[in-house]
Amino acid sequence: MTDSATPLELLETPEPAAIRDWATEHGILILAHSYQDGFLQEAAHFVGDSLELARVAAAENPKAICFCGVHFMAETAKILCPDAEVFVPDMDAGCSLADGCDAADLARYQEHLTQKLGKRPVTVSYVNCTAAVKAQADIICTSGNARAVVDSIPESDPILFVPDKHLGGWLNETTGRNMTLWDGACEVHELFSIETMLEQKAAHPGCIILAHPECPAAIRNASDFVLGTAGMLKKVKAAKGETFLIATEANMIYRFEKEAPQNSYVPAPGASCACNLCPYMQLNTPEKLWKALHERGPQVTVPQELMAPARQSLERMLAVI
Ligand code: 13P
Ligand code: SF4
Repeated sequence: MTDSATPLELLETPEPAAIRDWATEHGILILAHSYQDGFLQEAAHFVGDSLELARVAAAENPKAICFCGVHFMAETAKILCPDAEVFVPDMDAGCSLADGCDAADLARYQEHLTQKLGKRPVTVSYVNCTAAVKAQADIICTSGNARAVVDSIPESDPILFVPDKHLGGWLNETTGRNMTLWDGACEVHELFSIETMLEQKAAHPGCIILAHPECPAAIRNASDFVLGTAGMLKKVKAAKGETFLIATEANMIYRFEKEAPQNSYVPAPGASCACNLCPYMQLNTPEKLWKALHERGPQVTVPQELMAPARQSLERMLAVI
């Protein structure tokens, strides 16, 4: 028996290319983060890292965007394309980094540091944060441009970096700054196991380890390169016949295998499982995407008073790189 309330075309989810064509016909741009599974990546018009997707949203300025990623990414698209309808397959697809930095707590901490330092620190926020935090930050960065953003701030200015202490720690190490760090972390990257990673390294002699800067210092220090997802893609595309051990969300490997099939890829394991998948990204499914496209919802909205200040922080980032 079928549910009489369900439109017939929703009963069966088409293949990715047919979904994309349907979205094109209906004026909807599908954006997918590289941490989405292969089906969603294939259904999307563009697949990328946070920075690339923000740039695509700003440049394309479409009438409607269906964002396959997590909530803060869809919010970013809405801030950059205020006239577009922005919707997502699953409204519950959040992020532990964004959830770990409350805007009111940040305001109190900014005030505390201003008193302590006798000068208001420049607040740099990783893009993995809410629109309210973006509005309160001075400038945003992504994993792909974080060093350039930090380097763009005069040496004499103290910096508060939020919300990722691991990315912030890596930036302190590589830029020589002494930024104050918010105590947040990505629950996926924090769970990589150094012991198991070293066992895998021994099992794959000569392998090259790539780690995302959201990983803790022990993982970063044991890696050959610390790179955001776009930097990793560039690295593997330039390599020939290498084996890469990948310390980031395991779906990234789908892109590597598609765009750089000349290499082999081994996912670095988590502490208690064989792979590392972001539980929030996994909430998005082909069925939910197909439904969201038909319903043009659930819609992501950003309170009007946050739009201009959040956009200013993002535009400062886009002006750097
Ligand atoms: P990128 O900035 O590399 O896209 O990563 C985003 C993210 O959520 C990493 O966990
Ligand atoms: Fe957030 Fe981590 Fe998931 Fe990225 S992988 S969206 S930082 S929880």
